Amino acid sequence: MTHVSSVSLHRFEVVSNEEVADGVFRLVLSSPDLARALRPGQFMNFEVPGDASHILRIPLSFASADAEKGTVEVLYATVGEGTRRLSLMRPHDASTVVGPCGNGWSVDGGGRALLVAGGIGAPPVVAAARALVGAGRTVDVVLGSRSASTLWGREAALEAGADEVLVTTDDGSAGIHGLVTVAVDELMGRHDYDLVCTCGPNVMMAAVARVCEDAGIACQASLERMMTCGFGACNTCNVQMRAGGYKACCTDGPVFDAREVLW
Ligand SMILES: Cc1cc2nc3c(=O)[nH]c(=O)nc-3n(C[C@H](O)[C@H](O)[C@H](O)COP(=O)(O)OP(=O)(O)OC[C@H]3O[C@@H](n4cnc5c(N)ncnc54)[C@H](O)[C@@H]3O)c2cc1C
Ligand code: FES
Repeated sequence: MTHVSSVSLHRFEVVSNEEVADGVFRLVLSSPDLARALRPGQFMNFEVPGDASHILRIPLSFASADAEKGTVEVLYATVGEGTRRLSLMRPHDASTVVGPCGNGWSVDGGGRALLVAGGIGAPPVVAAARALVGAGRTVDVVLGSRSASTLWGREAALEAGADEVLVTTDDGSAGIHGLVTVAVDELMGRHDYDLVCTCGPNVMMAAVARVCEDAGIACQASLERMMTCGFGACNTCNVQMRAGGYKACCTDGPVFDAREVLW
């Protein structure tokens, strides 16, 4: 995977912060140096103001970064105290992020790529779509969601230049009724892929990794772990490797070669 620029502290100001799906917020922040430095697949570690007792930062990926405007687009689900406080930030409110953290997606190669996202795994997948299309690849995207009301990413994936975008929902309220693997099988039946990139729940990525291994297709997976520092100093984000031992999700990842991970 791609290893890039050094991590530092950046001040940011909120441009907008609005709910775009059930419990899913779209934050646009202004931080020109950060917007120039971020590479698709990397993440930032957010300080969320409002509770001095909450000292841990929140790791979040991004969907797009505009180097000219100096803005970064982040999509996040409100799952706990920190993300709920983040959802209360208003335009012109300011805070800091540590970043860019981690490696990024590797976009080398020239064939057709399939990108598979589950839930709030969609933002880094949209960023990957834009990068892969920019590198001259044709890209298809599968977006899995619990239901239509929690779905984000369809328009963003098309805007990023994806060729086909298939949606699956657990309750059948949008797209194909079923798991992402149903759509993955369908697309793999119609197209030849030389790369799959995936981000979402661990169990979903494990299933996608298995399909790719059986089909002999390279697979990159962006993993989520509980994180404390975000830059390799605390050992809280271990990923168990198939060859034995552990790697740090925050510095060796979050993007890993799926074949190397012990799922
Ligand atoms: C590299 C990376 C990128 C991420 N990108 C995004 C993103 O783009 N959008 C998004 O919505 N979320 C993303 N996450 C998950 C996000 O960091 C957590 O949802 C967030 O930290 C929860 O904080 P909280 O204070 O609201 O919840 P807490 O009160 O801390 O926890 C609420 C629930 O979320 C779980 N949780 C907490 N931290 C994490 C974590 N780091 N990974 C997985 N589950 C966690 C807890 O186990 C608990 O079940 C990412 C995580 C990582 C590691
Ligand atoms: S979060 Fe501290 S080592 Fe990864």
